[in-house]
Amino acid sequence: MSIVLAHLSDPHILDLRGVPLHRMLLNKRLTGWLNLRLKRGHKHRPAVVEAMMADLRALAPDHVAITGDLTNLALEPEFEAALAMIERLGMHPSQVSVVPGNHDLYTEGSRRSRRFGTYFEKYITSDLDLAVDLPGGRFPFVRLRDDLALIGLSSAVPRLPLIASGRLGEAQRRALREALDHPEVRSRVPVVLSHHPIVDPLGRLGPLMRGLEDLADFRDVLDHGRDVLALHGHWHRRGHERLAGARGATIHRLGATSASLVHHDEEKMASYNVYEIDRASGLVRSRARVWSAATERFEDAALPDGAGQTG
Ligand SMILES: [Fe+2]
Ligand SMILES: [Fe+2]
Repeated sequence: MSIVLAHLSDPHILDLRGVPLHRMLLNKRLTGWLNLRLKRGHKHRPAVVEAMMADLRALAPDHVAITGDLTNLALEPEFEAALAMIERLGMHPSQVSVVPGNHDLYTEGSRRSRRFGTYFEKYITSDLDLAVDLPGGRFPFVRLRDDLALIGLSSAVPRLPLIASGRLGEAQRRALREALDHPEVRSRVPVVLSHHPIVDPLGRLGPLMRGLEDLADFRDVLDHGRDVLALHGHWHRRGHERLAGARGATIHRLGATSASLVHHDEEKMASYNVYEIDRASGLVRSRARVWSAATERFEDAALPDGAGQTG
């Protein structure tokens, strides 16, 4: 019997309670706030996230993976709301895995207080002791669940306003290589969670603005001769791209949309992905549950072929 893994991303919960106006004006939160209001603030709908939690409860998957940008400005009330959102799934913490996005480490304060790792401690526990200390907590975590080995990475690093790039860093990449080589992982299907995607359509410009600085090295580690699922968010666009590995293996890039974004482009409309996976065959089936503004329900849709997507 296959395992059902649900994948959601980027709910971008916004809660400005407790932020004095003068602080907003003095630091980069202002830029984030303006960016949000002008570009997309009116389209992120908390009610859609609530409906998604209900749809997920009805689906009752074996595991839920959340690939970052749970918050918008990394504020404490936002983390509290994100935690409450996860708890509404009604699942045991061992069945939910979370990695940070660039918005979850938006400020120096959130990094200094280790806010992400503190709030989501029970969703980033590890069965193997390979993790290194990073701004968002200890990563990579490895969670062995039936046929799956879920490996969670932190690609989030504090950045200047409007710069959304990320980095894994050498120590984390080395630990990822060890994880992929570990017998407990080799006997399962590896599912790697990172906020930033494993391809960069912007080429060399990407890492400067919003991609991964060490993308080539990351891909090199992932290309370890066995099929691997690489789940990401950040683009707010869903898609499934099959990337050929060097030794005949396939790297499945699986992108999820923003969980809260109501968008006219069907591939960016709020949704979550559902994967059926088993040890012998790997990824057996994938689909999406997409929000319909007309019926105000989630409906089944195919996961589009993501080859050549531009974010
Ligand atoms: Fe995002
Ligand atoms: Fe992001």
